Formats: sequence, C-alpha cells, structure tokens
Amino acid sequence: MPKRLLTGGCFYVNVPGEQPPGSRDGAYGEAVLCRKGLRHARWLFWVAIVCLAGFSLHEGCFSSRLPQNAELTVVHLSDLHLSTRGRVMDTPWTHKIVVGGYKLHKPCTGKSFDLLEKAVAVVNGEIRPDAVIITGDIVDCGNDGEALKKGAEIIRKLNCPVVIAQGDHDKVGDRWEAVFGKRDGRTEMKGFSFFHIPFESDAGTFKRLEDGINGAQGHNRTKFLCMHRMLYTSWLMNALSKRFYGRTALLSPDREAIINMLGKTAGRWIVLCGHSHTNHEGTHGNITEFCTSSLAEYPHELRILKVKGGKVWTSVMCVDKVKDE
Ligand SMILES: [Fe+2]
Repeated sequence: MPKRLLTGGCFYVNVPGEQPPGSRDGAYGEAVLCRKGLRHARWLFWVAIVCLAGFSLHEGCFSSRLPQNAELTVVHLSDLHLSTRGRVMDTPWTHKIVVGGYKLHKPCTGKSFDLLEKAVAVVNGEIRPDAVIITGDIVDCGNDGEALKKGAEIIRKLNCPVVIAQGDHDKVGDRWEAVFGKRDGRTEMKGFSFFHIPFESDAGTFKRLEDGINGAQGHNRTKFLCMHRMLYTSWLMNALSKRFYGRTALLSPDREAIINMLGKTAGRWIVLCGHSHTNHEGTHGNITEFCTSSLAEYPHELRILKVKGGKVWTSVMCVDKVKDE
C-alpha cells in the first residue's frame, strides 16, 4: 500500500521595513516584498492542501487477493503514449508524488514501446485474461503514423480479444479508423457486454450506444463501458489538474449524458477509463468507475479485474517489477 507521510516546512516571514536576510543592499523595495509575500501565500496554500489531503509516494505494485475460477478476467491498460519521437526515459521524483489522487504527468515516451511489449508478455504469459481493454492515448500524438502502426503490431500479439477506446491524444490526424477500426461499438465476451466510445461523442455515437444497451445480452448482468476521460473524480484531483494543466479537464465532456443513460438501465456498470494517469476507484449509484494509471508513467501499472458471483475484484500490477522477479 502507498506510504502515508507527514511533512513539515520552514518559512521566512518578511516584516515590512526590515531587510530580509540575504539581500545585498538596502534598496529592497515594497514591490519585492509584495511579490515575495504573494509567493509565500501561494506556497502556504499548497502546503495546507498537502497537509489536509496527505501525500504519498506512488509505489503502486500492490496486489489484493483475486478469486480463483472467475467467470471473467479482464486486463485494463491506459495511456500508452507510444511515440517514435519521445526522449523521456526517467521519471523525476516530483512526478512520483500523489497528492489527493493526483500527480504531475511525465510519460516515459522514450521507452513506451518496450513497456507495451513487456505488458503484452505479462498478459499472455501470466494473466491470460478473457479480454484486454485499452482506454485511450494509445499514441502520444495522433499524427505519429509510425507509432500507430508499430503499436497496432504489438497489440495484435495479445492472445485474446482487445477493446480500444480513443483518447484525446489519438484524435489528432485521420489515421485512427484505418488502424484500429470504428471509434465506438459493442463486443460480447463470455456473456458480458463491452461498449467503447471515443473521447468526444456525437449524436450518432449516443444513438448507437443506446441501441447497443437495449440489444445487449443479459440486461441485469454487469456491463462494461470503456472510455478515455473520467465520469467521476475527487474535488482535489480536479482542482490540482486545473491548477497544473488548466486546458485539459479530467472529466468527460459527455459526462452528464452518459451518467443519465447508464443510470436508467438495470444492472451494474463498470466504467473503465484513464486520462488522469493515476489510479482512482469509486461507486456512484449503479456505476463503478476504475481509472487506471498510465502504463508509460511511473510505476508502469496495469489493472486486473475479475468477476465472480456478481462481484468484481481488482488489483494493479507493476509491469517493471514483474520483469525483475
Ligand atoms: Fe494520457
């Protein structure tokens, strides 16, 4: 389990009229004091947030006991960020800290293909699931045609059906459908229905999703919706995301319409998503959401889900750790 740490800090508080230590002459104007004061206020604000929420070093690699002889085993991968142009090989310590379920993003694009190869080997050799779900940001940039092609070749090595949802990064360019097929659809596996929708849906997508839900097998059975952005998040996760990545929201632009549609149906929905690059779980009404962290980002995890007797068990596995054992 992630370690919970408490931290302390030491701050110098400026007193108007006094020369702060370290200043080289007496011309230390009020404007500087104002700027410093503002900086300190900002720091104090974020320290207060951290103290209230606590922070943890993202260790990942935990596993809870999963049941034997499950009716269904699914592996969930997200945010592969495959890139032929990537150079990032390591994660700085600042990007290993999770605050309130959020951490700064830095996908290791320089070894994204190796990480996917490793995940495919673990999935085929050890987990042997009934299906693999990949919830978007397959490539770091949609117009990196070589990355799409190379990624598709690696994904084709999986020995089970694969459901792929399109993410924000994938939508750039027009090569998606030629490589991965339709952006929305339904797949039936072992009596369970898996729906996938793209990052942005239009009226046609919703109509097909609604028709698919009505025509799905076993109306009371657990169903899966695979999408890129989240339906639910914590307020702190959302606030920190807006603070550091103001242009990109964590929540799906179609959130309300999707929640309304799923809420009207019988049975439980498992929503699999990514985008936040952090693990997050929560249940709201008949919807249980599992957000899985980015495979390309420390600590390089995938999620395993097992369904047995109407219950769902889950565990995350660190792909890097598996190779070292
Ligand atoms: Fe991503």
